[in-house]
Amino acid sequence: MAKNFFPLAIAKGSAFCNRHDEQKQLLDHINKHAHVVLIAPRRYGKSSLSSQVAERWASDKQKRLAIRISMLSAWNVDIVSDKIIEGVGQALSKMCPLVNMDEIKKLASSLNQIGFSLSLSLDGFTVGLSGTRKDNTSTLISISKILSKLDEVAANTGWKVMLEIDEFQEISRLDENHAVEAEIREAVQYTDNIACVFLGSNRQMLEAMFSDKTRPFYHMCHIMRIHRIEPVHYHLHLEEAAKAQWGKTLNVQVIELILNLTERHPYYVNKLCSELWRMERTPNLDTTRSCWLSIAQEEESSIVAMMTALSLTQKAVISALAFSPEKLLGSKQFLDRVGLASSTARTAIKQLKKDDMVYQDHEGFWHAMNPCLLVCLQK
Ligand SMILES: Nc1ncnc2c1ncn2[C@@H]1O[C@H](COP(=O)(O)OP(=O)(O)OP(=O)(O)O)[C@@H](O)[C@H]1O
Ligand SMILES: [Mg+2]
Repeated sequence: MAKNFFPLAIAKGSAFCNRHDEQKQLLDHINKHAHVVLIAPRRYGKSSLSSQVAERWASDKQKRLAIRISMLSAWNVDIVSDKIIEGVGQALSKMCPLVNMDEIKKLASSLNQIGFSLSLSLDGFTVGLSGTRKDNTSTLISISKILSKLDEVAANTGWKVMLEIDEFQEISRLDENHAVEAEIREAVQYTDNIACVFLGSNRQMLEAMFSDKTRPFYHMCHIMRIHRIEPVHYHLHLEEAAKAQWGKTLNVQVIELILNLTERHPYYVNKLCSELWRMERTPNLDTTRSCWLSIAQEEESSIVAMMTALSLTQKAVISALAFSPEKLLGSKQFLDRVGLASSTARTAIKQLKKDDMVYQDHEGFWHAMNPCLLVCLQK
């Protein structure tokens, strides 16, 4: 089967472009058993980065294990607890192979004391884990107890665990949000053998969990902010992918056009390239432009919905930025361009930033987040 260099889901293997610095930084934290939260706007590549690092880290040395839990479906405390128990169960299965029944019996009895039972799987090679649940309080406590137990078993067996918790912001939507956060914090703040990576698709909610002084996770983790991938790295990535697909590299102007049209938004780069890479011949400037127009057309209804939800002043600001990015949003020049008073523009800009509708590039220029907006506005 032909390689998929441009997936719309998690980028892995040869589809994963660079992020060497981010990978190194994340690996350093994990090796120090420090907890990290990955923060970025939607579809920037948080899950891809975390999964790439998890794979590298776990395969680098023996007795390393990466477990991924997604809280997407967690709409009550019981589900959060089940998800964590399931993840810990997978880890115990790996860390405690059924070679030593005495050890397994010891583990079963120590788990029993904190309200969990251990079972053998049908194939007889792995252990299963289930928790007893009497009421909400015990469910809550079981979360910290089982995470602490995981750390203890890892210490006794010489394993290190990377625990990725994706869509972590969903916990903040539960009625008992602070209590659940407090239980997870209670366990992970003392761990020596588990490094947690928290991530999620709602930046605003996730950021609030980790930077609000009144919340349990305040100052608990290293915050890593993920930005767009640099042009130089995308150039290499697209050249490699072109060689693999057509046996020759792409015209450099075509690569630049791809990066300009998509503004290097990782999702849109993959969306455009996945279409271009289906062509029999290497794309030229015209085919690239027309492909981008059809992608923007596909996006039109969601862009219309997005614009309709904005206030008129927000609309004025984001439209101006889509046509021409701006460094100083409070400058007279920009205010004249959008025709707004300074205080009105300030309120609109604040909300647009908060909602990740706009982003700032390395040179300090503010742009509209969605690169398709310009095409829709030009119609
Ligand atoms: N390093 C990378 N190289 C190439 N493509 C990438 C890279 N990182 C992400 N992508 C692509 O960007 C898109 C978004 O990736 P991913 O799902 O990892 O982002 P995310 O930030 O976790 O998204 P969400 O906010 O929805 O959780 C996907 O199409 C993915 O393949
Ligand atoms: Mg994600």
